[in-house]
Amino acid sequence: MTDTALPSPGNDAPPAAALPSPGQSGQTTHFGFQDIAEELKQQKVAGVFSSVAHKYDLMNDLMSFGLHRLWKTFTVHLANVREGDRVLDIAGGTADLSLAFAPRVGESGQVWLTDINHDMLTRGRDRLIDNGHTLPAVQCDAEKLPFPANSFDCVTIAFGLRNMTRKETALTETHRVLRPGGRLLVLEFSRIWKPLTPLYDLYSFKLLPWLGAKITGDADSYRYLAESIRMHPSQRELQTSMENAGFGKVDYFNLSAGIVAVHRGYKI
Ligand SMILES: C[S@@+](CC[C@H](N)C(=O)[O-])C[C@H]1O[C@@H](n2cnc3c(N)ncnc32)[C@H](O)[C@@H]1O
Repeated sequence: MTDTALPSPGNDAPPAAALPSPGQSGQTTHFGFQDIAEELKQQKVAGVFSSVAHKYDLMNDLMSFGLHRLWKTFTVHLANVREGDRVLDIAGGTADLSLAFAPRVGESGQVWLTDINHDMLTRGRDRLIDNGHTLPAVQCDAEKLPFPANSFDCVTIAFGLRNMTRKETALTETHRVLRPGGRLLVLEFSRIWKPLTPLYDLYSFKLLPWLGAKITGDADSYRYLAESIRMHPSQRELQTSMENAGFGKVDYFNLSAGIVAVHRGYKI
């Protein structure tokens, strides 16, 4: 499998002009605060990440004051990956998690970096190579994973689930590809501790788009980020979705007052 052999984002979707509202499937979904035809979401999300890919890592550091590194370190720690494990990094983007897992699984294990977006995946693959890791990098949709059942010991999705059109389908797919006893870790923005909401809103809706415009020339993508966080399920709702997808012993950890949460569940 190669990244270029796999479908590009939005290839399955008919051209936008051919779509009656709310879409041929009749289903709508959120794109930030907008309600759009389900068929359009993948294209719009692809637009966001292709636009910001070249400055994605810098923006992560600036936006989170470097905290995203600690959140990811905590997630990797919880994953408890061992020598010889097979790890699937879904929506892996510029490969922060894959880079952390690679030395842990060693020569006898394997880490697969995957993402639906060619621009993000290319940056991730290049970073892996620059750091001396030749891992498989596969362009694929989390909702249709090109892997057989029971293939992985550990699956991770960091800041990816929020952008997916059918989150339930993606969770069911992660469950399918995990071996029995394997674990899923979802690191995602979540619901902040209520007293901090006004300050967080100010930061998200004023500072983020301003910073996005300054650094990437694209305020809209960072407006989408702020809106998509507000539309994402709460800690408890995501826990329930993971249980509905078949995961057992699902727990979660709030980090930075709930700005983000790490959910963990097992294929029992
Ligand atoms: C915010 S980035 C996260 C990248 C990386 N995991 C990190 O934590 O820095 C979200 C990623 O999700 C990817 N993504 C969105 N929808 C996806 C889907 N349906 N399947 C796979 N990846 C998807 C995007 O292309 C993007 O690279």
